[in-house]
Amino acid sequence: MLDLSDARRVMERCDILGGISEQSDCLTRRFATAAMREANTAVAGWMRDAGMGVRQDSVGNLIGRYEACDGGARTLLLGSHLDTVRDAGRYDGPLGVLVALALVERLRARGQRLLFALDVVAFADEEGLRYHTSYLGSCALAGAFDPADLQREDEDGIAMSAAIRDFGGDPAAISRDKRDPDTALAYCEVHIEQGPVLEHRGLPVGVVSTIMGQSRFDVEFVGEAGHAGTVPMDLRRDALCAAAEFVLAVEGLARADAGLVATVGQLVVGPGASNVIPGRATFSLDARHLDDAARDRACDALHKRAISIGARRGVAVEWREVQTSVTTACAPELSAQLSRAIEVVGYEAMSLPSGAGHDAVAMSALAPVAMLFVRCKGGVSHNPAESVAVEDVGVALDVMDAFLAKLVDPYNLTVDSK
Ligand code: HGY
Ligand code: MN
Ligand code: MN
Repeated sequence: MLDLSDARRVMERCDILGGISEQSDCLTRRFATAAMREANTAVAGWMRDAGMGVRQDSVGNLIGRYEACDGGARTLLLGSHLDTVRDAGRYDGPLGVLVALALVERLRARGQRLLFALDVVAFADEEGLRYHTSYLGSCALAGAFDPADLQREDEDGIAMSAAIRDFGGDPAAISRDKRDPDTALAYCEVHIEQGPVLEHRGLPVGVVSTIMGQSRFDVEFVGEAGHAGTVPMDLRRDALCAAAEFVLAVEGLARADAGLVATVGQLVVGPGASNVIPGRATFSLDARHLDDAARDRACDALHKRAISIGARRGVAVEWREVQTSVTTACAPELSAQLSRAIEVVGYEAMSLPSGAGHDAVAMSALAPVAMLFVRCKGGVSHNPAESVAVEDVGVALDVMDAFLAKLVDPYNLTVDSK
């Protein structure tokens, strides 16, 4: 019979982390906040209990190390993120960290050390909720952190540099978080699928082929605030009406291109009173496509559309690109080994692309990456209703266990046979 005790422990820990939030009525855990500190403290305790050396790096990533049998520097990185979106589910990110930790616990229980070290990384920011730019933690490890981001301010005017210092990090030392590519053998991440494909196929897990490229923009429409009772409709410069027209244009463009998804997920209206014509509308735009050129074309078209809507309505447009990541392929050989591990455990190995972004995107600049998706109920994610089955987590653990046991060339990863 399937032993689910490790999977149950992973689920219990997801529940514990799911209760660590900035908000009392829902799960929200942004980068470098008190809630993130509490989450890091909990995970650090479990890592220490698993016999790992634990440290927090300069940007705020938590790293637990399970040394190689020879104490050598070569390292396989496993992990995911501990930050969340607003009103989040409890599995997006933490599941990958806690499955990795459970793998170390299995190795330790067997008295087994590998010929390479395992670093379990709990990334400090993947969602980009606080500073809008995502992958802060994994970019630091991969050596791609942009120091200009340190000047960014959150909605309370707190600069990223101050938030990092307050979190116990050191903004000036983030460049030293970069891992040595010669010793970083690969990065492997377990993550919930966040979509319905595995559920439709009746499969507990699948292997990620590519991770869709995405562009994020901050857009501001500036018109003129005025009296809601006195200014005639044809004399208004209503920033929200312009934004509303633009939001529908985004939807229309994306509906016309089967490969494009585009979302305005955040909108702030100012001054913000029922009897004041909106003078300002500030909003986010997220556009994704597996074809980078198609995404670029769509973003250009939307920029032009914003300008034409603004010109017709007397509304000025500020268009700022926050971040772009290109479509990223997982490493074929590593992914093939993940597929073989799925078959060893007794399931069909399905390969599927990811519409969601992941730390593996940033980590691909450092080392070959592979990802294992775990089925989630109804494909629901970025939603408190996010749900995974303990049995599927058990399969993911067994697959990753088999994967570790079989790692061979071309990455020159081998295991001892104790
Ligand atoms: O936005 C994303 O795709 C990811 O969940 N951060
Ligand atoms: Mn997410
Ligand atoms: Mn995630």
